[in-house]
Amino acid sequence: MTSVRLESVAGDISDLIKALSLSGLPTEDVPEPGRTFFRAVAPDNNTVGYSGVEQCGEDALLRSVVVLPDHRGKSYGRMIVAETLRAAPVAGNVYLATTTAAPFFSNLGFEAVHRADVPDAILGTRQLSGICPASATIMKLTKPPT
Ligand SMILES: CC(C)(COP(=O)(O)OP(=O)(O)OC[C@H]1O[C@@H](n2cnc3c(N)ncnc32)[C@H](O)[C@@H]1OP(=O)(O)O)[C@@H](O)C(=O)NCCC(=O)NCCS
Repeated sequence: MTSVRLESVAGDISDLIKALSLSGLPTEDVPEPGRTFFRAVAPDNNTVGYSGVEQCGEDALLRSVVVLPDHRGKSYGRMIVAETLRAAPVAGNVYLATTTAAPFFSNLGFEAVHRADVPDAILGTRQLSGICPASATIMKLTKPPT
């Protein structure tokens, strides 16, 4: 069975930036503080993708989810999202913005939401306030009641 482990991306971020730009994902704000990025590594020690989390009060923005093109369609994307949320636990809800992968995230329990229903702290992130096109779908994973 396939699995991935996450490692923190620290220091040299050039591979992360390259993977994001090759897949058309934003890179402008990656080096800024307040973001945590992970490298997803398969059991054979090959890097298969990346992900990131930006904390916004109790809520968080899941971002920079990418599976390297050669490794797509093998469930790595699904595992990367699950492992990222385990590695960076979020007290509140998890939001994201996507232009192409809404059906992928909706498979994982995310629901599309209107901008009017998105907290200011999430709307104020650089991704949502400027970098992502206004046409991007904003999605939310509601924290289950505890
Ligand atoms: C979206 C992405 C992360 C999916 O990764 P992946 O490893 O290919 O996905 P998985 O193999 O885990 O797929 C899980 C399920 O989602 C489906 N799926 C994958 N990508 C999809 C997409 N773009 N649209 C619709 N469904 C998709 C798969 O068919 C699979 O469905 P199944 O369980 O019914 O078979 C990958 O295509 C990618 O890196 N895309 C470019 C970057 C991007 O758009 N990131 C999201 C913005 S943050």
